[in-house]
Amino acid sequence: MDLESKIVHIGINSDEKTGAISTPIYNTASFAHPALGKSTGFDYTRSKNPTRQVAEDGLALLENGSDGFAFSSGMAAATAVLMLYKPGDHIILTDDCYGGTYRLFSQIFINYGISFSIADTSSQQSVMSAIKENTKAIFIETPTNPMMKITDIASLAAICQKRGIQLIVDNTFLTPYFQRPIELGADIVLHSGTKYLAGHNDLLCGIVVTREKTIGEKIRFIQNATGNILSPSDSWLLIRGLKTLGLRMEKHNENAKKIAYWLNGQPHIEHVYYPGLEDHPGREIHNKQASGCGGIISFAVDNPDLVPRILSSVKFIQFAESLGGVESLITFPSCQTHTDIPEEIRHKLGITDKLLRLSVGIENYQDIISDLEQALE
Ligand SMILES: Cc1ncc(COP(=O)(O)O)c(C=O)c1O
Repeated sequence: MDLESKIVHIGINSDEKTGAISTPIYNTASFAHPALGKSTGFDYTRSKNPTRQVAEDGLALLENGSDGFAFSSGMAAATAVLMLYKPGDHIILTDDCYGGTYRLFSQIFINYGISFSIADTSSQQSVMSAIKENTKAIFIETPTNPMMKITDIASLAAICQKRGIQLIVDNTFLTPYFQRPIELGADIVLHSGTKYLAGHNDLLCGIVVTREKTIGEKIRFIQNATGNILSPSDSWLLIRGLKTLGLRMEKHNENAKKIAYWLNGQPHIEHVYYPGLEDHPGREIHNKQASGCGGIISFAVDNPDLVPRILSSVKFIQFAESLGGVESLITFPSCQTHTDIPEEIRHKLGITDKLLRLSVGIENYQDIISDLEQALE
């Protein structure tokens, strides 16, 4: 079955008794046992719930992994993944990543003895020099949030496999529709499902998909032990959103490409960061490992005074934190999503007071351009 069809058919035949096309919401905390020592396969919703399971199995299928897990947010998913590691372990984190991920490493897991180094994972040399004897994992985003840097997943996976290091990929920006890191050698894929997977700016959720059952079983244990789960109702919303993932991603991609080219020719735009542009340094690698560029564009204006003007002038595009929903949103990373990254690192990366991140929605692209045009005047 083609990926497009797999997406639409998530949950089909999940309720054999009634034949319901839409997955039922099993709003139950507990399940009755037929007899002592017997189970229907479901005992208690923290461990397993039929609605959540449809979402989890669906994502595992799309990412081509062994097991899928649904959490209450993307950060909850990342937390469960980092719980795989022990005091004394070291993890390499891509230098340009979502600010909340950096905060999780630098302000939470550091207190539990898990050290980390940041490295420019788009450079093999920089990764090699960051590897230590106790390095247990490399955690990347590609494209990165917000600078849209590209890491070669297959090459990094080969480095990791040789050294027994796990490769974790945050695949939020592209989703399995455009990029499937496990097929390229990654061990764990995670998502802020809040974004493109759910797609409608109406729920928070996180996803983990593992390459192998052995890691899957560890995540299952962590999820059940910590109670970090997606509710049945939110699982249903996720399934509902997922059904149109293919259509939405195509439209996000098509719109973003047009808008990136348009922005690139505007007088007050200093630089456009989008892997679909010819001058993007990671374009070749990106095209090798992904079938689309997604809907996120970051751009730097030529004067920081323009930033507050743009943010208060946009009417159609909403000035809000988040991305990946059907509505276009604009964000100021240095003051919003990336404030927890030290200023020195932010500036080195280009996350300055001139940088804006646009999450291109699925509206008519001319309306998005018209809004940007009047805001840039
Ligand atoms: C790339 C990426 N990963 C993880 C997260 C965290 O996800 P959530 O907000 O669902 O906790 C975000 C949030 O913006 C993100 O952009």
